[in-house]
Amino acid sequence: MMQNQTIKSDQSPSADPLARFKAAQREGWAHFAPLESMTTPAAAELVRRANPSAGQRVLDVACGTGVVAITAARLGARVTGLDLTPELLARARENTRIAGVEIEWHQGDVEQLPFADGAYDMVLSQFGHIFAPRPEVAIAEMLRVLKLGGTLAFSSWPPELCIGRLFALSGRYLPPPLPGVVPPHLWGDPNVVRERLGNAVKDLRFDRATMRVSALSLQHNRAMMEKTAGPIIKLVESLTATDPAKLETFRREYEATVADFFQDNVVRQDYLISLATKV
Ligand SMILES: C[S@@+](CC[C@H](N)C(=O)[O-])C[C@H]1O[C@@H](n2cnc3c(N)ncnc32)[C@H](O)[C@@H]1O
Repeated sequence: MMQNQTIKSDQSPSADPLARFKAAQREGWAHFAPLESMTTPAAAELVRRANPSAGQRVLDVACGTGVVAITAARLGARVTGLDLTPELLARARENTRIAGVEIEWHQGDVEQLPFADGAYDMVLSQFGHIFAPRPEVAIAEMLRVLKLGGTLAFSSWPPELCIGRLFALSGRYLPPPLPGVVPPHLWGDPNVVRERLGNAVKDLRFDRATMRVSALSLQHNRAMMEKTAGPIIKLVESLTATDPAKLETFRREYEATVADFFQDNVVRQDYLISLATKV
């Protein structure tokens, strides 16, 4: 039977800056569902490399609308998906019904996973756990719920390529981050991944894949991202209210950055896939 479990999180404004950061993330990502058409082929790339077998327990962390979770469930894995954003989990449930698979969904935070130690054979995250503000906390939780010998696999954006450069650009237009909050694109650097995973894993290996995003113009690509990508939605919201001229400069810089990766009406977004075995 399909289980639809929800762990209630406190939605009221908080004095804790980290809680406010996560509340802003939750709000920003609420409009991400249309981008699942871009992350669906990437989900197949991640799942193919991680290679879950039927009956294995798989956790998809920061699952969004469930593209990785559902791809793994179609192979017969017993899958759980967890995400911060209820609107995306609603779409994930709809996707589950359409695909005719069984998945357990949780609203929650990757920095505080509501699962027992060693509960999963495989922990996956596609462009997801990278948004947790404290990488060391997120990865410790992901490794805690993974059994010894289990597989960890995740996709992330390299700092020097399209989306990584857009993260860095957005960072220059946003207020300075809270102390200890680390930008997501560092997860796209194999040296940083190696250091963060340390001796908790063996057989760490890296691979590259490409997401090809249709766009009728650079402006179309920017307009789509302004409506769907959490951090960009928040940036545009804030500059619209405080500094419209700066927003225009951001928009021109955005288009100039993406231009380096735009050809034949396609934006080429290369990314990193990291795979390892827990020891
Ligand atoms: C770029 S989307 C990726 C979604 C999905 N994995 C995919 O590939 O389509 C980033 C996701 O991270 C989730 N997220 C951000 N911070 C999180 C946190 N601290 N804990 C759990 N999920 C988080 C967002 O709600 C959003 O669904």
